[in-house]
Amino acid sequence: MNGIHWHVLGVGAIGCLFASTLHRAGLPTTLLLRSPGMEPSLPVRVDRDGCSSVTELPVSAAPEAGQITHLLVTTKAQDVCAAVQSVAHRLDSSSQVLLLANGLGFAGELQDALPVPEYFHGTTTEGAYRLGERHICHAGRGFTRIGRPGHATPPAWFGPWSEAVQPGAWDPDIEQALWLKLAINCAINPLTALHRCRNGELLQPPMAATLEELCGEIMAVSAAAGYAAITNDLPRQVAAVIHATADNRSSMLQDVLAGRGSEIEYITGHLLRVAEHYGVAATRNAALYRSIVNRAK
Ligand SMILES: NC(=O)c1ccc[n+]([C@@H]2O[C@H](COP(=O)([O-])OP(=O)(O)OC[C@H]3O[C@@H](n4cnc5c(N)ncnc54)[C@H](OP(=O)(O)O)[C@@H]3O)[C@@H](O)[C@H]2O)c1
Repeated sequence: MNGIHWHVLGVGAIGCLFASTLHRAGLPTTLLLRSPGMEPSLPVRVDRDGCSSVTELPVSAAPEAGQITHLLVTTKAQDVCAAVQSVAHRLDSSSQVLLLANGLGFAGELQDALPVPEYFHGTTTEGAYRLGERHICHAGRGFTRIGRPGHATPPAWFGPWSEAVQPGAWDPDIEQALWLKLAINCAINPLTALHRCRNGELLQPPMAATLEELCGEIMAVSAAAGYAAITNDLPRQVAAVIHATADNRSSMLQDVLAGRGSEIEYITGHLLRVAEHYGVAATRNAALYRSIVNRAK
C-alpha cells in the first residue's frame, strides 16, 4: 500500500499487538527477529475479551539484507539502541523509524549513533502482556499518540497508520506527552518496584507520603525543563492513574521480580540527568533510583 511496509522490531507484548493490528488493517507488516530461522512466517496469537485470534506474519532476521522503509521499534527502552543498530545496514535517509518504548533519553543516544533515518516518537496506553512466545493478552484498550518534535503535520504514512491504530492521534506536542508519561512513570514505577506492591498500595501510608515527596521533586524538575504547564497537577494525575490501575503490577515491578533489566535508566535516570542539568534537587528520586539500581546488581 503506497510503498508502506512496516517491520516490527521487538516482538514482545506491544510488538505483537501492533504487528497484528497493522497486518489486520491490510498494511504489509513483517516481524523482525534477532537471528534467522527456518520459517518464512510465524503466527501471532492475541487473546482479547475472551476470544483468541491468530495472524500469520512474514518474518525477516535482522542480519538479512533488504531495505526497511518503515520500522516500528517496540523493545524496552534499554534495548532500543542495540536493536536499531542491528538493522542499521537496512536503513537509509528515507527510512521512517517510529520509537514506541517508554522512557526518555534513548532517542538522543540513537540519533547520535545513527543519524541517518527519520525518527518519530510514540506513546501508548494500550495494555498487553505475554502469555507465551508471540502469544499475548490484550488486557486494556488505550490511546496512541505519535509525533515528531517540530513537526505540526504528520507524514504520509500516518494516514493508513491512523486508520489501523485506533484510537490515536498525531500529536504536534509529542515532547509534552512523552514528558508527562515520564513524570507519571517516575512517580509510580520505581516505588512499586522497591516495595514490591501493586499500584493501588501507593496511596496508602507509608508510601503515600513518599509519593507526595517524589511528585514535588518531579514537578520542580519539570518546571525547570519547561514542562510546568502539563505537570502542575501531577499529584492528581498520578492518583488518577493509580486508581485506574490499582490491581496492576507495574512493568518495572514485573521486571525486578523476574530478575530482568528494568527501564529505570530511561525513567528516573533521565529525570535525574535533567535535574542535574538545571541544578534542581531531586534527592528522594535519587535515593529511589539507587535502591532499584543496586538491587539489580
Ligand atoms: N506491555 C504494555 O502493556 C506496555 C504498555 C505501554 C508501553 N509499553 C512499553 O513498550 C515497550 C515494550 O514493552 P513490552 O511489554 O512489549 O516488552 P516485552 O514484552 O519485553 O517486549 C520487548 C521485546 O523486545 C525484544 N528485544 C529486546 N532486544 C532486542 C534486540 N536487540 N533485537 C530484537 N528484539 C529485541 C525482546 O526479546 P526477548 O524477550 O527475547 O529479550 C522482546 O520480545 C516498553 O518500553 C514498555 O514500557 C508497554
